[in-house]
Formats: sequence, structure tokens, C-alpha cells
Amino acid sequence: MTTGLFITFEGGDGAGKTTQSELLAKWLSKRGYEVVHTREPGGSSLGDSVRNVLLHGGHVMPRAEALLYAADRAQNIAEVVRPALERGAAVVQDRYIDSSLAYQGAGRPLPQDEIRHLNVWAAQGLWPAVTVLLDVDPSLAVERRAKDGQKADRLEREAAEFHKRVRSEYLELARAEPERFLVLDAALPIEELHAAIVERVAPLVSN
Ligand code: TMP
Repeated sequence: MTTGLFITFEGGDGAGKTTQSELLAKWLSKRGYEVVHTREPGGSSLGDSVRNVLLHGGHVMPRAEALLYAADRAQNIAEVVRPALERGAAVVQDRYIDSSLAYQGAGRPLPQDEIRHLNVWAAQGLWPAVTVLLDVDPSLAVERRAKDGQKADRLEREAAEFHKRVRSEYLELARAEPERFLVLDAALPIEELHAAIVERVAPLVSN
């Protein structure tokens, strides 16, 4: 049994997830929550090494990649997220199972149902109360990265077609579960996005 509040952020690379999840974390903290802000890959002790292999290492075969993301998730959920939720904390997390469904289950040539099964097993069936999907045109993300002078990681270097498949899978996942997803246009101003997120989360907040 968990009593806390679990909220995840999803979207293509460069959608502004971190900015929005930080703003929400601050908002929840002002409302008296203990807030745990985490991310996948990389939220746990093991996760930092897995993140490094996945984003900055050499070639990873699709099935190995799917397993590494799932392994990182299993560790993060068991070590960080569940204990926090059991304490009644709010967990705000950048990326979760939907990332694997979009990137591995649609970006890569892997069966979607197997990726879902693997990840539900890894996370022991934990799903967030709300998932904010910041929908972004992949070409806009490339522009933002260039403007910020950021170097692309292993996934960001994938072809435009890969990122288009990821985006349409995200939108498909959101259509299938409208009660969990809040879909927002990532091109909107930061404050406008934050206000829409708060509007969706406020009814779930206990005080
Ligand atoms: P980010 O944390 O900077 O967004 O980078 C994580 C990258 O890893 C991003 O390109 C998406 C990708 N990813 C997957 O392919 N599958 C997953 O399950 C997760 C969590 C991330």
C-alpha cells in the first residue's frame, strides 16, 4: 500500500520536463509535502552507472537497452520511489515506463506488449496518479539543443524517424489512458505550462 503521490513527466528530448518537474516539486513542497524529485535512468545508486552506460557508452543492442532501462527502473522504484510513497511523500519523476514504451517499444523494433510486460514486472505494477506529457516536435528539440550548445547523447543522436515514432507512440499512449495523462504543448510559455499542471494536480493534494 502506498499513501503518497506519484507524478511522472514524459516527452521527447528537449521538451522541458526538468524545468516543469522542478517547478511542480517546489509547488508541492510549499504545500507541505516531503518531495522526492527523481529521474530515470539514474534515480538510484545503481542508476547513475546505468545512465552513463546508456547515454554515454558505446553501441547497445535493442534488447540489452530495454533490459538496462528496466533494471534501472526496478532499482529506482524499490530503493527510492516506494519507500518515499510509503512515507506519504510526493514523488516527482522525470520519465518512467512510458519512456520505455515509446523509445524501446516504438522507436526500436521491439514488441510493445513485451516491453510493457517487462516493465510492469520490473516496477511491480506501480503506476503514477498523473503523467504529464510535454509534446514536442522533434525538430524543435534539436533547435533548442543547438541554441543551448548541448552535445547530443546516444539516444538524441538517433535519426529523425526514430524521434517521430517516439512522439506518435506517446500521443497514442495518452489517447489510450486519458484519465492518467495530461498532454500539453511543450512550445507554450513555461508559466502557462506550470499553471496547467498545477490545475491538474491540485485536486489530488491533501492540504
Ligand atoms: P534524459 O533523462 O536526459 O531525458 O535522457 C534519457 C534518455 O533515455 C532519453 O533519450 C530517453 C531515453 N530513455 C529510453 O529510451 N527509455 C527509457 O525507459 C527511459 C527512462 C529513457
